[in-house]
Amino acid sequence: MKNRVEVMHGVNLDALGRRTPEHYGTTTLSELELRIKRFAYDLGLEVRFFQSNHEGEFVEYLHRLPEIADCAVVNAGAWTHYSYAIRDALEIAAVPVVEVHLSDVQSREKWRRSSVFQGLVVGVVSGKGPDGYREALEMLKAELEA
Ligand code: DQA
Repeated sequence: MKNRVEVMHGVNLDALGRRTPEHYGTTTLSELELRIKRFAYDLGLEVRFFQSNHEGEFVEYLHRLPEIADCAVVNAGAWTHYSYAIRDALEIAAVPVVEVHLSDVQSREKWRRSSVFQGLVVGVVSGKGPDGYREALEMLKAELEA
């Protein structure tokens, strides 16, 4: 059964907990990962985590993704809005991906409203805080079972 989910956090997500709490709350990255682990356990999914502030490292991890995971949850942070390199790497990885944003990107600055991953991801969850990761895992579970 396919149940391996890679949860990938991009640039600046390691600063959660001390980053504009009005947008991102006060949960730290390790607290968020603990919550995601619980969501995954409830859904019978196996999760692993990766975070990087280095675009090339993120791209190389995506190249290895098909060997280590069946699907992925990706919050690429600001890269979402302009990194065609990560967009292409997602295309190469060719596994189902749900894009997640803790904050509601549609109600913030104009440049945050577009995602270069559009058309590649199977779903987008935005503005739901940590609970958004549960929704993303549910979407991926349905996708893996389809
Ligand atoms: C983010 C939204 C992005 O616009 C921003 O650059 C981030 C975090 C979010 O989780 O809301 O770093 O992806």
